[in-house]
Amino acid sequence: MEIKVYKDKNEVAEQFSAYFVEKAAEHEAFHVALSGGSTPKIVFDVLAKSFADKVDWTKVHFYWGDERCVPPTDDESNYKMTVEHLFSKIDVPEGNINRILGEKDPEGETMRYANLLEIDLDRVEDVPQFDLVILGMGDDGHTASIFPHQIELWDAADHCVVATHPDSGQKRVSINGKVINTAKEVAFLVTGASKAEKVEAIIKKTKGSEAYPASLVHPASGKLIWFLDAEAAAQLNQNPS
Ligand code: 6PG
Repeated sequence: MEIKVYKDKNEVAEQFSAYFVEKAAEHEAFHVALSGGSTPKIVFDVLAKSFADKVDWTKVHFYWGDERCVPPTDDESNYKMTVEHLFSKIDVPEGNINRILGEKDPEGETMRYANLLEIDLDRVEDVPQFDLVILGMGDDGHTASIFPHQIELWDAADHCVVATHPDSGQKRVSINGKVINTAKEVAFLVTGASKAEKVEAIIKKTKGSEAYPASLVHPASGKLIWFLDAEAAAQLNQNPS
């Protein structure tokens, strides 16, 4: 596990974008699962603004680790956020964008999306393998859309699961823990002071941290990188790189 701490969100965005460019160049077809929420916005903005010409986007195939069960026009949609902050600014073929259909029946969509991953991606012991899974982490220690109150979904047999947001009750479609831990590489993008407590608990494996789904992220490849800003790393006693 690598822990990279940068002074602020913007430097995290710069450094992660450089890492993304490097990884993309290593693959003829680069299959990436994106994270949602708010943290990726500045990262996508920087990737599009300062690194777009350094990536052959025809070789990058986009998927999501999770999506909110809302239409693609909804402000809650991770797809919509990614269009606004990335896709609308780069030349990526439409066919390379594999969104989760948040407007569809959640159960049906988990089966459709799992089937798509099983067809599109290489498989390891029958589990679809991404080249890179990008993850965020909630203040409660959730990742993708696997929340502490449904942590059993991490080991679900189905590669995609229906989850429920603990406060809003919003339905989510999420990849499960096996798909996450089968990825060739996993990168956490976590910024802001509200994440510091869980970052410390998970990285230092403090008592009770196993209740946080993000603590279960251990890719079999051993390739796990945390991209943190100083605020999120505040309780790690690790100075910015
Ligand atoms: C989502 C995510 C989720 C997100 C965390 C952090 O759809 O919400 O994929 O796992 O990464 O909730 O969200 P913020 O970046 O908004 O803090």
